[in-house]
Amino acid sequence: MRAAPTIENEVFCPSLLGEIERRLERFVHDAAYPSNLRDAVSHALLGGGKRLRPLLTLRCCESVGASTKDALEAAAAVEMVHAFSLVHDDLPALDNDLMRRGRPTVHVAFGEAMAILAGDALLALAMHAACSTPRDAGRIALEVTNATSAMIVGQVYDTLGGFGESTTSREKLHKIHNHKTGALLRCSCRVGAICGGARAESFAAIDHWGDLIGLMFQAVDDLLDVTQSAEHVGKAVGKDHDAGKLTYPAVYGVEETRHEIARLRKESLAALEPLGSNAEHLILVTEYLAARTR
Ligand code: IPE
Ligand code: IPE
Ligand code: MG
Ligand code: MG
Ligand code: MG
Repeated sequence: MRAAPTIENEVFCPSLLGEIERRLERFVHDAAYPSNLRDAVSHALLGGGKRLRPLLTLRCCESVGASTKDALEAAAAVEMVHAFSLVHDDLPALDNDLMRRGRPTVHVAFGEAMAILAGDALLALAMHAACSTPRDAGRIALEVTNATSAMIVGQVYDTLGGFGESTTSREKLHKIHNHKTGALLRCSCRVGAICGGARAESFAAIDHWGDLIGLMFQAVDDLLDVTQSAEHVGKAVGKDHDAGKLTYPAVYGVEETRHEIARLRKESLAALEPLGSNAEHLILVTEYLAARTR
């Protein structure tokens, strides 16, 4: 007898992950890189990571009645922006992290200069991928560009500040999280819906859902930083507190962070109601994101 599928097995569907992996590999293979840059870009992009953003793109495309094949280029684009953001996030000048996805970070493996350039290369490759979408390429490229700008603004808030004087800690936290993490997750959902030719009502539902799960995602990431081991999550933990970062547990405390995640889960599920039975996979993704431990 076969074991009942777990939510995680359903969300991380091997055939979709395989399609994403192959599309990413092809973009890297086709790029005119010298071998040292190819190695660093491959280290950052290929063979690791949950692939959550491209999965969101494909599932959102599917939820509006289209084939996941229509969104593969857009899915590759958002994962490339994500990989770029991680390479630079780990640099000594930012979070100074040595481990990512259970392996040495790009600057540890290839040096700081190459990490900066590999990040730059990934961003350019992301724009190439976005411009390669078969439908609405201009719109997809604009979505990806705007989300990238928002992510960079979020990293500035997170690392260097820049808020107005009267901004409260809670307002700062929301601004940081909505920008540095939420914008790209929301974009991953939006571009999937666009690739699928979503009608206005479905698009609005997916957009709202993407906004809510984006915030929930970083709230969980902050929680994992204080509740999990480095071995389990594949990156250093306990560093947010040491670096004095504004995180959910720092601002709300661990218990209230858990309540906030539960509230966001409920709101996210409600946001999917207009999609009816087409939301089947997005509901599973919501449950996974609320409960994930890595
Ligand atoms: C980590 O994102 C960075 C954040 C935005 C918190 P993920 O947890 O999706 O990282 P990978 O891609 O699975 O390694
Ligand atoms: C990173 O947030 C968000 C990015 C834009 C890369 P974190 O700094 O919390 O991500 P991790 O914990 O290093 O993955
Ligand atoms: Mg950071
Ligand atoms: Mg970091
Ligand atoms: Mg973190």
